[in-house]
Amino acid sequence: MTIELPDLGYAYDALEPVISQKTLRTHYEKHHRGYVERVNALVRGTGLAGGPLETIVLRSAERRAAEPAMTAIFNNAAQAWNHAFYWRSLRPAGGSGAQGALAARVAADFGSTAGFAEAYKSAATGHFGSGWAWLVAEGGTLKIVTTGNAETPIARKQVPLLVIDVWEHAYYLDYQERRAAYVAAVVDQLLDWRFAARNFEQAAGARAA
Ligand SMILES: [Fe+2]
Repeated sequence: MTIELPDLGYAYDALEPVISQKTLRTHYEKHHRGYVERVNALVRGTGLAGGPLETIVLRSAERRAAEPAMTAIFNNAAQAWNHAFYWRSLRPAGGSGAQGALAARVAADFGSTAGFAEAYKSAATGHFGSGWAWLVAEGGTLKIVTTGNAETPIARKQVPLLVIDVWEHAYYLDYQERRAAYVAAVVDQLLDWRFAARNFEQAAGARAA
């Protein structure tokens, strides 16, 4: 099985004005596609070829300490996975906040929806260098975590609910160095809380199983 570039799920201009068509097209067609193509090339002949992307991420994460070739596979596979998750974390006219059981969990762990938004923006803006800012579920509670470069919570047994890409390629054309403005606009206007709720339900179901 060859890893495929997944559909974006919306038009290139659907996230404007927060994320421009130019940024979205380049980010998806150049950056994301590049990670997908490189992971397909790198796994040939390694024993990881043919598996689903998530399995390649997890197996290369386990093996990279002992096998130097696994580092490049992990970096490209995790970046392919993280980007697919990022596109699904966004939607036009999003940012409305959690509903239902997830809203109760957000209130329990962050005080309020506003408290979560403030903490998430602060973490995403303050992350040093390239990486990702995540809302994850771990052991029944929600946490905000950031990861550097290609690192991903699925290799840490955390269940991601949402992510924001804070690599400069995600915002530099639109915001230059103003990462805080990009992060605030994404949190307030684009986060897809229905996607987060589905991930939260799956995390709760997996713990109950
Ligand atoms: Fe990216």
